[in-house]
Amino acid sequence: MGKAKVFVTRRLPDATLNRLVAHCELEVWEDFLPPDYATIREKIRDRDGLLSLLTDRVDARLMDAAPKLRVISNLAVGYDNIDVDAATERRIPVGNTPGVLTETTADFAFALLMAVARRIPEAQTYIRDGNWRTWHPTVLSGQDIFGATLGIIGFGRIGQAVARRARGFNMTILVNTEENKDKIQEIGGEEASFERVLSESDFVSLHVPLTETTQHMIGERELTLMKSSATLINTARGSVVDGEALHQALDRGDILAAGLDVTDPEPIPLEDPLLSLDNCLVVPHIASASVATRAKMADMAADNLIAGVTGNRLPNCVNPDVYT
Ligand code: DGY
Repeated sequence: MGKAKVFVTRRLPDATLNRLVAHCELEVWEDFLPPDYATIREKIRDRDGLLSLLTDRVDARLMDAAPKLRVISNLAVGYDNIDVDAATERRIPVGNTPGVLTETTADFAFALLMAVARRIPEAQTYIRDGNWRTWHPTVLSGQDIFGATLGIIGFGRIGQAVARRARGFNMTILVNTEENKDKIQEIGGEEASFERVLSESDFVSLHVPLTETTQHMIGERELTLMKSSATLINTARGSVVDGEALHQALDRGDILAAGLDVTDPEPIPLEDPLLSLDNCLVVPHIASASVATRAKMADMAADNLIAGVTGNRLPNCVNPDVYT
């Protein structure tokens, strides 16, 4: 039997591609920008495996166009770009990359929180605009992080890793979660209702996956519950927050500031009003972007892909029901 045929929707590190070549006949999309939906559909027509990115929509129609497809390996821990139920119905295992990006993403959530609180991007612009003429007692004053209250919504691996960092800053940690409640006290936090987290926190950091339930979980009502001195940090998925409501809340001063690693849509259009606000720091979905972590994610995605095309169980499978 010849090698399994796979389509990889973006160029990965050479070391990962070399491993894949040993097991598969590869086609790699070499462009910087992703292939569009129709192209992926065409490319996987006779493929056994697909290595996708979070920018690739993988739905039932796409799966039906690829009758031989035996594995979908997503290079991300999140998999809201994939219709997992449709994959399960077709007995196609879906892989993801949990664990390896936890600490890197938590570092970044904290970096975003600190950058917004201490107004670091504004300070750089201030200097570049030629405004630094003297030390001044009030210029660019921000918010204290040490001793403040951090609200964490969602307490999976990344939420917990953010809480561990907050402990080092002597923060009061309020956690709202449906899972891992037993870990809250261990990490030095306190369980709190959604409303209490919103209304008592100086910083609210989101760590939930995007699902039908979490879509727009932060909207006008929730932003109104937050303190006018509070900051919202989103490193989860853009549409967990209603962007229009956030813009209004920031513009009116209902909340103080926001730091967003993720937006809806991505990339954020240049004309999006959030980009016109000094109190909103937006960066391009880079929370897991360290060289080492991205290499580990690529390797894990390769492991899942190789397992799938060689008839083995995926080491990280989000729909293990396919094996029962
Ligand atoms: C993921 O893996 O889901 C992240 O959003 C990518 O950094």
